[in-house]
Amino acid sequence: MESTEIVQQLDDIRRAALASISGSPDTASLEEARVAHLGRKSKLSKVSSSLREMSDADRRVVGKTVNEVRAAIEDAISSRLADLTSAERAGRLERERVDVTLPGRKPELGLPNPLTSVLDDVLDAFVGLGYRVVEGPEVETDYYNFQALNIPEDHPARSMWDTVYVQGETDELPLFRTHTSPMQVRMMEKEPPPVYVVVPGRVARRETPDAKHLASFMQIEGLAVDYGISMADLAGTLEAFAREVFGASQKVRLRPSYFPFTEPSAEVDVLCFNCGGSGCRSCGREGWIELLGAGMVHPNVFKAAGYPPDITGFAFGVGIERIAMARYGVEDIRWFYENDLEFLESFR
Ligand code: PHE
Repeated sequence: MESTEIVQQLDDIRRAALASISGSPDTASLEEARVAHLGRKSKLSKVSSSLREMSDADRRVVGKTVNEVRAAIEDAISSRLADLTSAERAGRLERERVDVTLPGRKPELGLPNPLTSVLDDVLDAFVGLGYRVVEGPEVETDYYNFQALNIPEDHPARSMWDTVYVQGETDELPLFRTHTSPMQVRMMEKEPPPVYVVVPGRVARRETPDAKHLASFMQIEGLAVDYGISMADLAGTLEAFAREVFGASQKVRLRPSYFPFTEPSAEVDVLCFNCGGSGCRSCGREGWIELLGAGMVHPNVFKAAGYPPDITGFAFGVGIERIAMARYGVEDIRWFYENDLEFLESFR
């Protein structure tokens, strides 16, 4: 072949290459064009390798043109590549655009269960009076739940505190505690007087659930042990607590009662939250609502704890659900545990 013919051919190669490069719609097809026009099997490579067989004069002319064509193609590829990459990036930015003016999705804020709010308020009131908050085991021994609290095995009071017994590893049957009172003796065994503690926790009784009863509920036990404590201290403490939690005009009333582990014992009422004492449907026309059991710690309980005989103290046990029902006017205790969002949201 004449060198002029080859130069003509190279011109065609260049034109075809430049056309396919500028016609490449994306970087992938540009790469295909590069392989086709500059790769080892390309026409340009074939011309290039045929240089060896040419005369010096032809090689000089053709070689120069080959170099020019290769350079032209490479230039075209790199400038097309620059265009395509920036176009592709712009396209991706457009597709993945974040609209910062869209309002965000607000996370839904939860709120404490009403029982938690009541628990916190009651504990706060006692912490303000100098009490410490401690917790005890939910599964208790017969000893701490009954015997140490002056309730021997054959005592009739056991029937009103019947509960679930758990199969244990020892002879003694563990049970789901029927009250938080076992912590009285546990605390006194652990620490010398004085002891001022409140003990929140879950307890269980043998109850058929209805609007006023559940087989499992929460209590807060209070225990104040020191020298020279009297029933007046108990009454004053409970009144301070009632005012703190239920409002400054609140009053408490103590009625004689019986618990094996306190002597004397009392049921403690507060003025009805609904009618303020005049009597309504909520309080059964009484004007008062029963809130807790209390009394002066029985000498046998001090004896079980190994405390000195001249020590004195009072204890009380208050039901959390009861307070929440009275405070919020909830008519059925079971609603607190049904996880009904509409009910729970009503406390917001
Ligand atoms: N533990 C008693 C109950 O659950 C309440 C109580 C506690 C009474 C402390 C007196 C003193 O019924």
